[in-house]
Amino acid sequence: MRFDILTLFPEAFPSYLNVSMLRKAQEAGLLNVVVHNIRDHASGRHRVTDEPPYGGGGGMVLKPEPIFAAVESISLMQTNIDDDPARNAKVAARPIILLTPQGRPFTQNIAEELAGKEQILLICGRYEGVDERVRQHLVSDEISIGDYVLTGGELAALVLIDAVTRLLPGVLGATGAAESDSYATGLLEGPHYTRPEIYQGYSVPFVLRSGHAANISLWRRRQSLRRTWSRRPELLLKASLSEQDKWYLATLAEEEAGKWD
Ligand code: 6GU
Repeated sequence: MRFDILTLFPEAFPSYLNVSMLRKAQEAGLLNVVVHNIRDHASGRHRVTDEPPYGGGGGMVLKPEPIFAAVESISLMQTNIDDDPARNAKVAARPIILLTPQGRPFTQNIAEELAGKEQILLICGRYEGVDERVRQHLVSDEISIGDYVLTGGELAALVLIDAVTRLLPGVLGATGAAESDSYATGLLEGPHYTRPEIYQGYSVPFVLRSGHAANISLWRRRQSLRRTWSRRPELLLKASLSEQDKWYLATLAEEEAGKWD
C-alpha cells in the first residue's frame, strides 16, 4: 500500500515511520510512504504557501495553487512511469484525504475501509485552514481524529497510517491480533497479564494460570463485557452479543442496581 503525504513539515514524519511495526511493514514491502513538501510546489522567489484570509480575521490560510500543483505532479510522476491504463486508473481513483478537525470522525471502520485501497494521498491542513477550493474541487474525503484541535494534520496523518497499516495482511505477527482488538469486536479488551505471577503482592487471576482453555475464554469475554459496560456502555448497542453475553450484562446491571438498595 502506498501513502503520499503533502505537508509543510516533512521532517515531522521519519521518526515515527522508522520504528516498530511501520518500519517493519516498509522493510517487508507492504507499506510505502512518500512525503512531499508543499513548499516545493509553490511558485515565486519566496515560495509562499499561505496568505491572510479574504474578508479579514486572524490566522493564515493555505493557498490552493501549491496543493493542486503538488497533487498533479505526484499523479503525473506515477502515471508517467509507464502508460499502463490499469495503473493510471488506480492513481486516478485513489482517495485524496484532507486531515482537518472538520472532517468525519476517524474510526476503526474507516481504517478497515482504507486498508482495502492500494494508494491514498493525504493532505495535512494547518489549523487555521485550507482554501475552500481545495476541499470542494480536489479532495474526496475529510477526516478528523477527534474533537480537539491540533496545530496541523501531521499527527492525524500518522495516526491514520498507523491504524491502517496494522490491518494490512502480513503486518501483525500474531494472526488474529487485529481481530480481537478493542473496536474490531465492538467491545473494549479486558485485562492482560504477564510474568511475574505475583508482583508486589498483587497476583495474576487464578483462572489465567489454570490452563483451562474454556474457562479462560469465558473469563476474558466477561471481563471484556464488564469493562465495556463500565467505561463505554454505548458500544454495547452496536456490538454483536450472544444470549449468554446478554445474560451476563443483565447480572452486571443488577449488581449495579444493588449498590443503590
Ligand atoms: Cl485531522 N487536524 C487538526 N488540525 N486538528 C485535529 C484533527 C486534524 N483531528 C482532530 N483535531
